[in-house]
Amino acid sequence: MAKINCLNPIAQVGLDNLPANYELTDDFAAAQGVLVRSAKMHDMELSDNLLAIARAGAGVNNIPLDKCAQKGIVVFNTPGANANGVKELVIAGMLMAARDIVGGIEWVQANKDDADIAKDMEKAKKAFAGYELKGKKLGIIGLGAIGILVANTARHFGMEVYGCDPFLSVNNALKLSRDVKVVGSNDEIFQTCDYITVHVPLMDSTKGLINKAAIDQMKDGVVILNFARDILCDEEAVLAGIESGKIRKYVSDFPNATTAGKKGVILTPHLGASTEESEDNCAVMAVDEIVDFIDNGNIRNSVNYPAVNLGPATMPARVCVAHKNIPNVISGFTSLAGANGVNIENMVSASRGEYSYAIFDLTSKVTEDFVEKAEALEGVLKVRVIEK
Ligand code: MLT
Repeated sequence: MAKINCLNPIAQVGLDNLPANYELTDDFAAAQGVLVRSAKMHDMELSDNLLAIARAGAGVNNIPLDKCAQKGIVVFNTPGANANGVKELVIAGMLMAARDIVGGIEWVQANKDDADIAKDMEKAKKAFAGYELKGKKLGIIGLGAIGILVANTARHFGMEVYGCDPFLSVNNALKLSRDVKVVGSNDEIFQTCDYITVHVPLMDSTKGLINKAAIDQMKDGVVILNFARDILCDEEAVLAGIESGKIRKYVSDFPNATTAGKKGVILTPHLGASTEESEDNCAVMAVDEIVDFIDNGNIRNSVNYPAVNLGPATMPARVCVAHKNIPNVISGFTSLAGANGVNIENMVSASRGEYSYAIFDLTSKVTEDFVEKAEALEGVLKVRVIEK
């Protein structure tokens, strides 16, 4: 029985996809696979049983990716699975920034006992008036699954859309409306757009992407939207921009002590992917990824190891080797196989940064001694044998 531990509630439709030889466990240390949403894993002890962690969502800043990679633990996310949910809230955020919808709703609530509310609102409403999105310029930093959907939807609102992404994939480029202008630098977005929305992963290189230098370049009255992670924006600089009148509104899905209750800030409690559909999609994708890895050793959508796929495991033994991206690991393994009379029927290998992963399909089972020798090869982090 493979054991799966859920660190957060995971949608049942995903858990229903666990095969019959899987069981859920409350014991983190006993699990081969972990499903997680927002639980912080940085300080958790990672047991030798743990093979894989799947995050039901896109962001992985709650998981120690490198610590996992060093132990040969593969971390997955579910790119695109909640993109539509996040996109819809970004559009709502733009509408809330364009017109004071929140102020208007609060006014109605505050005046709910006014018998003349139907008349009085006609005088009061001018305080909540705004403008339309049509014709405004929207800049999107990061044209991944969410950025692409936001771009295409904004075109339907009649916005002029600009996008910037040095890592734009061919697949995403093909999905992007031809009316979206892809520009070469974030500075062009900062200088051109009325609305700027950030859709990049949180990494050391993206922290504080929206900072004072960026804000100084922006147009007066700019709206900044952050549905990615709070520290992508230097929020002290954003508050100063609101104070000076440079920024009309800051819309964020990540309230914190810096922004909560501040003038000009519209906050939602990390609701972007909190829809039934997104939660179901993420759970299904996360479970599929983790099961394919545990059963077949295949890696799809990992954030700390390369994509490697050799299809279903059907040979007597499939050996999966997580290793450092250094010379002679593959040759060390193939020599070891040759020396032990082990025939490699098929193999695949790939690298990502410091880490590599290889799958070898063998025509015979291997001994414990063979596995120990493979584990002892320089650079090898984890060896796993899947037998059929
Ligand atoms: C994500 O990272 O996918 C979104 O922020 C939603 C979530 O964290 O669940």
